[in-house]
Amino acid sequence: MVYTTGSAAETMSLGRRLAGRLGPGAVVAFHGELGSGKTTMIKGVCAGLGVTETVKSPSFVIATEYAGRLPVFHLDLYRVAADAELDELGLDEYFDGGGVCLVEWAERCEALLPADAVRVRLESVAGGRRVEVSGLAGPL
Ligand SMILES: Nc1ncnc2c1ncn2[C@@H]1O[C@H](COP(=O)(O)OP(=O)(O)O)[C@@H](O)[C@H]1O
Ligand SMILES: [Mg+2]
Repeated sequence: MVYTTGSAAETMSLGRRLAGRLGPGAVVAFHGELGSGKTTMIKGVCAGLGVTETVKSPSFVIATEYAGRLPVFHLDLYRVAADAELDELGLDEYFDGGGVCLVEWAERCEALLPADAVRVRLESVAGGRRVEVSGLAGPL
């Protein structure tokens, strides 16, 4: 399904709706350029999952864990350059950690993503963002 959001608030609210569809073990792969709205949408997902801490783009850490109604793992692979680094991260521990895993720059770990990962592709367009969500049954 493709959605268009006209503001950051709308992107967050789409994230909140997505949160309602996620259970333990869910992995959501976010794709899109810098500034396309990945973190913004993740803020909404976290809010929808009951996270009360401030969610931000982790600048120096690759993984942040938040406590929501499920554990939430926010991964940002922007700075991951080599496969060796990915191995060190032990992504399976996050994917299989019984929580919800939200991965920015998920193309950097494409081969490791579970086959049933939900895909979110964000793109800047005139007037806002185009947000394509796949891997869910039915619309958000
Ligand atoms: N429709 C929109 N959806 C999402 N973000 C928007 C929108 N319009 C403007 N913005 C702004 O774009 C920026 C997106 O930044 P961010 O979410 O950090 O992107 P990314 O994590 O993909 O680098 C934010 O400053 C946000 O306020
Ligand atoms: Mg980001």
